[in-house]
Amino acid sequence: MSCCEGPSAPHDLTKPIDPNAKALLNCKAVDVNQLCPIKYTWAWEHYINGCANHWMPTEVSMQKDIEQWKDPNLFSLDERRVIMRNLGFFSTGESLVGNNIVLAIFKHVTNPEARQYLLRQAMEEAIHTHTFQYCCESMNLDQREVFNMYHEVASIREKDDFVMGLTADVMDDNFKTDSTENIQKFVKNLVGFYIIMEGIFFYSGFVMILSFKRRNQMVGVGEQFEYIMRDETIHMNFGVDLINGIKAENPEIWTPAFEQELVDLVKQAVGFEIQYAAACLPRGVLGLSADQFDQYVRFIANRRLERIGLAEQWPGAKNPFPWMSEVMDLKKAKNFFETRVTEYQSAGNLDWGDTTNTVETSGVFASKEEKETTSKSGGLDW
Ligand SMILES: [Fe+2]
Ligand SMILES: [Fe+2]
Repeated sequence: MSCCEGPSAPHDLTKPIDPNAKALLNCKAVDVNQLCPIKYTWAWEHYINGCANHWMPTEVSMQKDIEQWKDPNLFSLDERRVIMRNLGFFSTGESLVGNNIVLAIFKHVTNPEARQYLLRQAMEEAIHTHTFQYCCESMNLDQREVFNMYHEVASIREKDDFVMGLTADVMDDNFKTDSTENIQKFVKNLVGFYIIMEGIFFYSGFVMILSFKRRNQMVGVGEQFEYIMRDETIHMNFGVDLINGIKAENPEIWTPAFEQELVDLVKQAVGFEIQYAAACLPRGVLGLSADQFDQYVRFIANRRLERIGLAEQWPGAKNPFPWMSEVMDLKKAKNFFETRVTEYQSAGNLDWGDTTNTVETSGVFASKEEKETTSKSGGLDW
């Protein structure tokens, strides 16, 4: 099987491969089934790092979270909203990323070491989706409410519609990376998912949930988010290398107009993310305010732009959450395996005790703040 279709120079794919003939897109000279010899060592390193971080949500104890969540006096309604909204956003956001890999970008990446990483990442996204099923099940949350927020909560829907539009462009059966314009479209998808979705849209949620953990609240959910954030850091690093690699191999795509298009995309995304944080925190909780997120989102967007060779757009934006960089440095050597619970607890044996004390929140977090409930997210046939 060749790595790609269509007319190309004659070549014999049965011969041992020349790694120098490998290309990230439109490779017509190398058998895509032969991983070695490796050309793109960065892709392989991200793969190895991802394997070293392997974890499963069910290895994290949720017992404390269950007790805290059912305590009617521990959390205000505003605090519960923050937790629910973030579970709602991530529960489907993870699937959007996984589906974008499998259904849109994978077949166009014609390099086996990059594909090896994409396969690993797709599995990690499935594990992340599993995390939210596990959180819902262990905390006895309304799964339909959590998993349907991307239709019902406007600030979540806007972010998801934004990236789903970029998936649709590449998922089209007739799409090929056979022209400058189409390679630009492909790179826009990568920027949308790796830089914006995984590099910006996830970060307000990380700050909010980890703020609870810093107060010794919802520590199980917090630990899950730490592991997800560690994975996402590698996902974004891979995306940055992939984007910069495609740019180096196809320099004609990187025009001033295309740079501006990408900057505009990031600016639009920053607007969505600031709105999302404001909708999660209408009055501020845990010492967090919408104003801080305004700064934070701009700060991280500047950092992301720099990684792909684009100028920062918000000079002077500061990080109001310096403690996040410590969490981001969570090293595997530090304590990941030490903190794993030794008695693995499946959701089936979590003790809920008397469930009549469960705080009834069904429906409260999905639609109270936003009146508009008509879905615009439909149209993509996953
Ligand atoms: Fe993920
Ligand atoms: Fe990811």
